[in-house]
Amino acid sequence: MANLGCGYDVLGLAIDGPGDEVVVREGEGTEGIVITQITGDDGLLPQEAAKNTAGIAAQKVLDRLGIGGSFEMEIHKKMPFGSGLGSSAASAVAGAFAMNELLGAPLERRDLLEAAMHGEEYASKAWHADNVAPCLLGGICLVRDNNSFDVLNLPVPEDLWLTVLYDPSIEILTAEARERVPKEVPTNIATTQAANLASFVSALYEKDFTLMSRAMVDRIAEPTRQPLISSFEASRQKAMEAGALAFGISGSGPSLYALSHGQVSAHNVAKAFDSQEIEVYVSRVNTKGAVRLA
Ligand code: HSE
Repeated sequence: MANLGCGYDVLGLAIDGPGDEVVVREGEGTEGIVITQITGDDGLLPQEAAKNTAGIAAQKVLDRLGIGGSFEMEIHKKMPFGSGLGSSAASAVAGAFAMNELLGAPLERRDLLEAAMHGEEYASKAWHADNVAPCLLGGICLVRDNNSFDVLNLPVPEDLWLTVLYDPSIEILTAEARERVPKEVPTNIATTQAANLASFVSALYEKDFTLMSRAMVDRIAEPTRQPLISSFEASRQKAMEAGALAFGISGSGPSLYALSHGQVSAHNVAKAFDSQEIEVYVSRVNTKGAVRLA
């Protein structure tokens, strides 16, 4: 989940929940990566490795190491597209991570960030690590600088829980949602955003949930994107009445998140959405990031 209200393009966190799986093995054919199977994508994803986020990320790992050879890849999509839950980032991270594992993990986890960002860039048409970084590293990440891959892991308060609401009937493509964000913002908005972001970081260190609640406000991207999600205001009210501390759009949407202090509160928020035809995930912050399954 990227942005977290006050951190447009610079904050993200990982949740337990849906995740993509990528299998990489040595091949026998021509040099390069061949994607032999993609499942769970309804035939929507490109099978050509050079046009596929996971394929691109895995190739970047090979390029960085100066390794050639023949490789086969399978992609098992378990995350919904256009959901705001970082589906393309998950595939990109899985591609880079799986290739590195096959090679005996010559690169440190952090060193895979650049490769995964290249995969994500192909899908979202933007160079940003705010969803790729937490997906790879786990936890709550602050991207200080995309170009030097300067990413900080922030403290994760134990009682911080999230309720994520995904409505499959709405699809928003990140590249299109980014077009709505103003290219320039007035100074008063920039300073408010900076103050909220700094307060949020402080709140994580201090485990100050009240401050978190006040700070998780987006003055830059969310106001322009809310009209894409007609249920936003009603959902926000419902979540806040059920005890959420903050509410906002996950990444570029349409998924929405509520932040809670404690598991009980997060489940109370989830219950408030019981009757709606949406997918609801209740999760702590996942601190593991990408994992090897076999
Ligand atoms: N921060 C991005 C955006 C989403 O809001 O457009 C995910 O990287």
